[in-house]
Amino acid sequence: MKFESSTAKPKILVTRKVFPEHLAQLTERFDVMSNQEDISLAPSELASRLADKEGALVTGGDRIDETVLIAAANLRVVSSISVGHNHIDLAACTQHRVMATNTPDVLTETTADLAWALMMAAARRISESERWLRAGHWKRWSLDGFLGVDVHHSTLGILGMGRIGQAIARRARGFSMRTLYHNRSRLPSDVEDACAAQYVERDALFRHADHVMLVLPYSSENHHCVGSAELGCMKPGATLTNIARGGLIDEVALCKALRDGRIAAAGLDVFEGEPNVLPELLSVEHTALTPHIGSASRVTRDAMAQLAIDNLLEAFSGVRPRCLLNPETWRN
Ligand code: 8YV
Repeated sequence: MKFESSTAKPKILVTRKVFPEHLAQLTERFDVMSNQEDISLAPSELASRLADKEGALVTGGDRIDETVLIAAANLRVVSSISVGHNHIDLAACTQHRVMATNTPDVLTETTADLAWALMMAAARRISESERWLRAGHWKRWSLDGFLGVDVHHSTLGILGMGRIGQAIARRARGFSMRTLYHNRSRLPSDVEDACAAQYVERDALFRHADHVMLVLPYSSENHHCVGSAELGCMKPGATLTNIARGGLIDEVALCKALRDGRIAAAGLDVFEGEPNVLPELLSVEHTALTPHIGSASRVTRDAMAQLAIDNLLEAFSGVRPRCLLNPETWRN
C-alpha cells in the first residue's frame, strides 16, 4: 500500500476533542493535528485544515462533501466516530477515492437505553415536572398533578428497525408492550420473533402506536418525514421520540401538535439545527429534550472512538477497514 512505503508519519486531522489515551495512540502512528480545544470547525476551516492531510478522524458535526474533498487532495480516509453517516457524501468520497468508515454496533444498546429514557420521560412528564419542582412551584400533592400516559401494556411503534430499533423492541417485552414496526424491508421472521415485533405499513404505525419512536437513518429523501400529516393521524395522548436525526421531523409542525394537545408529548435527543434548537421547541411544554447524548456513556464513547481509530489504523496499514462504508474504494 502506498501509505506503508512512506517513511514520514501520515498527517491526520482529529476534528474534535478525543480522550487522551486515544490521542496518544494516534500520535504514535500519525502526525496529528488535533483540536483538543473542541471548537466546532466551520466548513471552510475544516477544508483548510484538511488541505495537507491524508486521514481524518471526524464526528457527526463535520460535513465531508465535494467542496471539502476538492480542498483535501491528499485525503485517503475519513473515519467517523458515529454510526450515522449522513454528514459524509459517500458518492463524492468514492469519486475522490476516499475511504469512509463509521462505528456501528458498539453504541446499539446504549442508544436504545436513551431512547427508552426519553420515551419514559416524555410519557411520564419527568423533565416537565422537574422543571416545575426546581422553579419552587411544588406546594402540595394533587390527585391530578402531572398526569401522564402509561408505557406498560401500551403499543410501541418503531420507525426504522435496524440494530438500534431492534434493541429498543427487545426492551419492550419487559413492559408487556405490543410492538409494531415499519422498515424499508421487512425483517426475517426469526428476527421479528426475537423482537416480538409485528411489521405494519407506515400509516398504520402512526395510527396505532401509543408511543412512536424514530430510529431511521436520515437522508434528503426522508427530510421532514414526520410532519403535520403524520402528527395529525397519531392517537391523541400518543408520544413521539426521536433519537435518530433532527431533520426527520418538521419541528414547527411538532410544536403546533404539542401546543394544540394533538399529541401528549415528545422526547427529542436530536434537532434539525443542532446545537441550535428552535426557540419554540424550548418554550413548548410536554417535552423532554437532551443534547444528542444517545451514545453518551463513557464505555460506549470510548468504544466508538477506539473503533474509529482501528478503522483508520487498518486503512493506513493496507488492511481493509472493518467498517468501510464505500467498498468500491478498496483495491488491494
Ligand atoms: C454520535 C450519533 O454521538 O453515532 C451517531 O450516529 O448520532 C451519535 O452517537 C454523534 O454522531 C457524534 O459523532
